[in-house]
Amino acid sequence: MVLFSILTTSLLVSSVCAASRGYNTYLDKQFPQTFYDSYNVLKHTGGIGPYTDRVGYGIDPNAPESCAVDQVIMLMRHGERYPDSITAASIEHALEKLYASGITKWEGDLSFLNGWTSFLSEPGYFEQETFSGPYSGLLDAFKRGSEYRSKYGHLWDGESTVPIFAGGYERVVETARYFGMGFFGYNYSTSAAMNIISENYTQGADSLTPTCLSDTGLLACFYTQRMLPPLAVAAERFNSQNPALNLNSSDIKSLMSLAAFELQARPHSPWVEAFTLDEWVAFGYLQDLSYYYCSGPGDPYQVAVGQVFANASLALMRAGPSHLSMSWNFAHDAYMTPVLAALGLNVPSSPLPNNSIPFPNPYNSADMVPMGGHLVLERLSCNATALSKPGTFVRAVLNEAVVPWQNCQSGPGYSCPLDDFANIVNQIPNFVDMCGVAKAGYPEYLDFWWKYNTTTDLNYQKGPIAYQEKYTLV
Ligand SMILES: *[C@@H]1O[C@H](CO)[C@@H](O)[C@H](O)[C@H]1NC(C)=O
Ligand SMILES: *[C@@H]1O[C@H](CO)[C@@H](O)[C@H](O)[C@H]1NC(C)=O
Ligand SMILES: *[C@@H]1O[C@H](CO)[C@@H](O)[C@H](O)[C@H]1NC(C)=O
Ligand SMILES: *[C@@H]1O[C@H](CO)[C@@H](O)[C@H](O)[C@H]1NC(C)=O
Ligand SMILES: *[C@@H]1O[C@H](CO)[C@@H](O)[C@H](O)[C@H]1NC(C)=O
Ligand SMILES: *[C@@H]1O[C@H](CO)[C@@H](O)[C@H](O)[C@H]1NC(C)=O
Ligand SMILES: *[C@@H]1O[C@H](CO)[C@@H](O)[C@H](O)[C@H]1NC(C)=O
Repeated sequence: MVLFSILTTSLLVSSVCAASRGYNTYLDKQFPQTFYDSYNVLKHTGGIGPYTDRVGYGIDPNAPESCAVDQVIMLMRHGERYPDSITAASIEHALEKLYASGITKWEGDLSFLNGWTSFLSEPGYFEQETFSGPYSGLLDAFKRGSEYRSKYGHLWDGESTVPIFAGGYERVVETARYFGMGFFGYNYSTSAAMNIISENYTQGADSLTPTCLSDTGLLACFYTQRMLPPLAVAAERFNSQNPALNLNSSDIKSLMSLAAFELQARPHSPWVEAFTLDEWVAFGYLQDLSYYYCSGPGDPYQVAVGQVFANASLALMRAGPSHLSMSWNFAHDAYMTPVLAALGLNVPSSPLPNNSIPFPNPYNSADMVPMGGHLVLERLSCNATALSKPGTFVRAVLNEAVVPWQNCQSGPGYSCPLDDFANIVNQIPNFVDMCGVAKAGYPEYLDFWWKYNTTTDLNYQKGPIAYQEKYTLV
């Protein structure tokens, strides 16, 4: 009897606890034990796949217990989009080649073609953000803004007009606007101020797309022109399943990009399943090579390009939240990878091999610059703990995963003391010197964080949507 009542009481007590935490049954776990990310094909679509969170290191992305985020600086790539006109043309070419074969009944991995229709019927959408399906670019931007209102909303005093900075490229501007609507909600029209920064190289360092005039090797380094054996294998497979076909590896590359882009406008792409894991890994790696050697750690001029944002971030963090507590910036993948390289984040210990595919891959672009990819630098204001002194620290959060600096992680939550962060930034090769900016007479530092416009005139689209249309404020 006694035993029984003890048992009942403790069951009751623990069920009350469980209920108060919102668990329904004793089978629900507080933490999942499964990590399926390693098997997600979206980790192999490189920079042209839908957004995925970065595979992290198990560090809580919320501010460490003794700290509060008092300033945030974000650099975000535009959201999911339709292919640009060059990629769209290569996709159309491959599709025409398929249909010109005269095949009326598709077999094997392409059997879905018996019922598939293209999503690329409207050329006016090329280059633009997608707006349909669960991977929609505009949805992604809005959701990010809304989530960040929950996470960083305490940084808005509820009164000030807050600038949002976007490179002058339409899809970048649209991403910034939808983010702003998500963040500010009812207050977007009056409290956000879109600042559109020209992408012209004449902006020098005062830009979200700084151009390195000295980097003359850039055009020669596009690795996506190269082919890897797995892509030829896919061509052979489709051709043997459908003997009237004559696809080659270039066609496969186009069809794989079709798969990645289709997913940005539709919930499901049967194309994705037509390719094997090896083929996707090769497809992703071709892009990783391009990022690494053309706009990443493999090109010292591009590291200098990233110095602009790194240096401006340091200056803003030193000025602190009283100058600007939130700096929301929107640009392209080709600016995010230089900034990461400059900051020494996700830099492989040796150059990427160009004749084999390393696995596991130390430089996975899908983990850095998927569509909607974003780097957030948080300034943390921390009280003393048993382990650390009070002070100001910096953390980098890339696609929602904390990425600690290898040589600077002594602060709470593996953060870096601001003074040590300054040392990291001050060692980056200088954009102005390396890129011939002074000689050309272009602006030598990023100035728009300091002299922003508070006009709300540019918060909404004006005039017709014309792709590649540029907006410029100054
Ligand atoms: C730091 O300490 C001050 C004074 O006790 C307190 O007001 C503040 O909330 C603390 N900050 C954090 C992040 O715990
Ligand atoms: C924000 O929007 C709410 C709801 O419309 C309004 O009451 C409030 O005054 C607005 N704040 C500012 C600063 O405009
Ligand atoms: C960039 O600016 C220069 C100087 O104002 C101008 O001549 C050029 O046409 C601009 N380029 C583009 C792409 O707008
Ligand atoms: C594949 O075929 C197309 C013509 O349909 C051609 O332009 C392209 O160069 C070929 N690629 C390779 C790798 O042979
Ligand atoms: C760093 O930024 C500050 C503030 O904008 C600027 O005065 C300085 O010239 C920049 N330094 C370098 C090396 O780019
Ligand atoms: C591949 O790497 C080797 C060794 O670093 C280099 O010599 C070669 O030029 C590279 N090939 C290409 C196409 O970049
Ligand atoms: C701010 O934007 C408005 C509207 O586009 C423009 O007339 C004004 O000159 C801008 N001010 C500055 C300081 O750039």
